[in-house]
Amino acid sequence: MNTYNNSIANKGCVVWFTGLSGAGKTTIAQALEQRLIKDKKQVERLDGDVVRQSLTRDLGFSKEDRDTNIERVTFVAKLLARNGVLVLVSFISPYKKHRETARMEVDNFIEVHVNCPLEECERRDVKGMYKKARAGEIQNFTGIDDPYEAPECPELELMTHKCSVDECVEEIVGYLQKKKLI
Ligand code: ADX
Repeated sequence: MNTYNNSIANKGCVVWFTGLSGAGKTTIAQALEQRLIKDKKQVERLDGDVVRQSLTRDLGFSKEDRDTNIERVTFVAKLLARNGVLVLVSFISPYKKHRETARMEVDNFIEVHVNCPLEECERRDVKGMYKKARAGEIQNFTGIDDPYEAPECPELELMTHKCSVDECVEEIVGYLQKKKLI
């Protein structure tokens, strides 16, 4: 019998940031994390670049590996969320099917499409990876030679080429308040 969340005061949730590399997922998740910590909320952040150095360091970027990556992260996010933690997940998570599986697995799943046009992500090229992908030095790069399937009905859509980080954070905070998750 599961008794894990019977006495937990806070409802947990999973805020799932999806979007192209360089769209701003990590930046917004970090700012949101700071904002929630300031309000003394229990929060944990799972970030693609970080998780890929530990829990999923054995994985690459084939469809199968990305699937496994998301599957493992979903498992961890689920455990945290059911213990009252606000979990901020930021992965490209390019495939609709994987995100839908995550949605079915966890309660209070909030999909946030960090929507920034490819041209802008490429212009930012924070990690210099688009340049390498265009030069053929990296294969299966999302948006270049691997697909990104945009969400059709995300709970939130943030246009990071039009809104500031603070505005994006406030939009998410407003949503969480409306849903009585914080
Ligand atoms: S996901 O597709 O499996 O969800 P994830 O978010 O974990 O991707 O990792 C994406 C990060 O890995 C990118 O921000 C980038 O720094 C790096 N990366 C390296 N190779 C690729 C690739 N082929 N496609 C996308 N990102 C890549």
